[in-house]
Amino acid sequence: AEDGYDLWLRYRALEAGQQDRIRPHATALVSEESDPTIDRIAAELGTALGAMLGAPPPARRDAPAGAIVFGTPKSPRIAALGLPLGKLGREGYLIRSVAIDGKPVTVIAGNTSIGALYGAFRFIRLIQLGEPIDRLDIADRPRLDLRLLNHWDNLDRHVERGYAGQSIWDWQKLPGFADPRYTDYARANASIGINGTVLNNVNSNADILTEPFLKKVAKLADIFRPYGIRVYLSARFSAPIEIGGLKTADPLDPEVAAWWKAKADEIYRHVPDFGGFLVKANSEGQPGPQDYGRSHAEGANMLAAAVRPHGGVVMWRAFVYANENPDDRAKQAYSEFQPLDGTFADNVIVQVKNGPIDFQPREPFHPLFGAMPKTPLMMEFQITKEYLGFATHLVYLGGLWEEVLRADTHRPRAGTTVADVLDTPVRAGAPTGIAGVANIGNDRNWSGSQFDQANWYAFGRLAWNPDESGHAIAADWSRMTWGDDPALTSAITGMMLRSHQAVVDYMTPLGLNHLMATGHHYGPGPWVDDLPRRDWNPTYFHDADAAGIGFDRTRTGSNAVAQYAAPVARRFGSLATVGDDYLLWFHHVPWDHRMASGRTLWDELVVRYDRGVAEVAAMQQAWAALAPKIDARRHREVSDFLAIQREEAKWWRDACIAYFGSIAKRPLPAGHAAPP
Ligand code: GCU
Repeated sequence: AEDGYDLWLRYRALEAGQQDRIRPHATALVSEESDPTIDRIAAELGTALGAMLGAPPPARRDAPAGAIVFGTPKSPRIAALGLPLGKLGREGYLIRSVAIDGKPVTVIAGNTSIGALYGAFRFIRLIQLGEPIDRLDIADRPRLDLRLLNHWDNLDRHVERGYAGQSIWDWQKLPGFADPRYTDYARANASIGINGTVLNNVNSNADILTEPFLKKVAKLADIFRPYGIRVYLSARFSAPIEIGGLKTADPLDPEVAAWWKAKADEIYRHVPDFGGFLVKANSEGQPGPQDYGRSHAEGANMLAAAVRPHGGVVMWRAFVYANENPDDRAKQAYSEFQPLDGTFADNVIVQVKNGPIDFQPREPFHPLFGAMPKTPLMMEFQITKEYLGFATHLVYLGGLWEEVLRADTHRPRAGTTVADVLDTPVRAGAPTGIAGVANIGNDRNWSGSQFDQANWYAFGRLAWNPDESGHAIAADWSRMTWGDDPALTSAITGMMLRSHQAVVDYMTPLGLNHLMATGHHYGPGPWVDDLPRRDWNPTYFHDADAAGIGFDRTRTGSNAVAQYAAPVARRFGSLATVGDDYLLWFHHVPWDHRMASGRTLWDELVVRYDRGVAEVAAMQQAWAALAPKIDARRHREVSDFLAIQREEAKWWRDACIAYFGSIAKRPLPAGHAAPP
């Protein structure tokens, strides 16, 4: 059934003409090696080609004309070709049309079988996309070392900010029973180059570090290993107290350090290639080194020493803010972490969210990017749509992420983008990386909606190459997921590309942010002003009063702009140059301020809310027209979700206009359809 389970690996039969073009180049599957990854490559090529061509090419020992020869230089045939694999690293690959014994074949080779696996998935993608495969010469390698999913999955299977059912990790049945879905999860991730997964929530439960759970974790690691995916765990900083029986978790206490060392040794006995720890410390009530008067670096370095003998890393999150701190919340991570530059152990990576607040529909890039030149920094994106309408709103995140990755940090010089900061090691051998908070659950379609699969897909593609275009990725995904018909692809990618600006407009236009209702973040709540934490209140973020609206982060306000490089600070800090996207993020602006459009700010705000709703209506229309080209089940599901999105976009618009209007006390501009 077309229920979305197959993701972008749908492998539907190609048209006869296409099959005829491909078949001569897929006559046999040939490998001279045997290891678990090579076996998976053979299986995937067999499944994919079998489904797309009607019958799988036979496995053979010789290499007949049209064979697909895959593996590493351990294969004598591949070694004899003398391929230029030198620059491709551990995970890169080469796909080439070559001759072996005078016969034309396609070789898919890597320095390791994992590289060859990535090459095989690329080769399959070429066929899915209808590309010619008779004269191939492709070399590729990932630009970032760590390409990780972060599951915010609790041990009771509730997924924090998860909108796709329960956790796919069925802890109760592991390790005795391993759901076949774990293998499909690994296949899907490997197909887009994801090479690690943090299994449990950053708000973590120390039980995951106990022996019974480590056996379960080991089982998952065994399933993922042939697909090049390592497991990582979120470590609770107070675990030595909770499961170790110690009185303290002070990182400078020798007993605490010894406990973590022994714990790490134990983990590596279960999972020899364990990746390391992710830690949320002293953030939103989580325990951490500051509970003992120690710094983030002292905490991170103690854990780093425990995993270091085994080659593990510690990913230490920079998402911190404190109620007691009267300073602008947007400034707090920078204020706390930037001075620690150069003090972290070399197997620590600081993991920074894309923006300084919290995964809002649009945020300026986080000022830490470029500001810690001696410290490896990795990106944290959120694939799950906590602040973007959950699973029922169609919002493609490829464009949002591209915007952040291409932002110019001006550090150390103009033209140094966030992507450059991420993929340039701070010293030889220093780790680089990116993480995405997963949107995966046990829903049949994995992500809670058909279109949210695109966000998982786009994350993987951007993790592999942060300079890829969100548009190109959307088009590939659409063709593999919905069918390879140009009219379909252009309609679907059109919807996807406009979807991000649409949600910005109907939720938080012109740089507004954090207007969502309390706790669950579903729907509007811009009027909320009574939460105990000052910086949880939407009124704190929009700061609307009779004179105007927006958070003054210039010199006359919190001066958060000063955390950016001088040219960026100048651009964001001036009303003339900040632009519409970040206007109210950085400035408190009078309601009658003249916008670039010629309208007043108040009128522009209303126009944006209207435009957001109109864009959803346009997506509905575009989608309805595609009915004849799409299977009924998936078409219906998306239609229904778009109807929900339209209703909720109106809810956002009407609530926000009513509320802000009660403060601005200005008439609605002509053309605005007032709510009934
Ligand atoms: C957000 C989110 C929390 C999460 C936190 C984090 O605040 O709402 O659920 O725990 O981010 O990233 O640590």
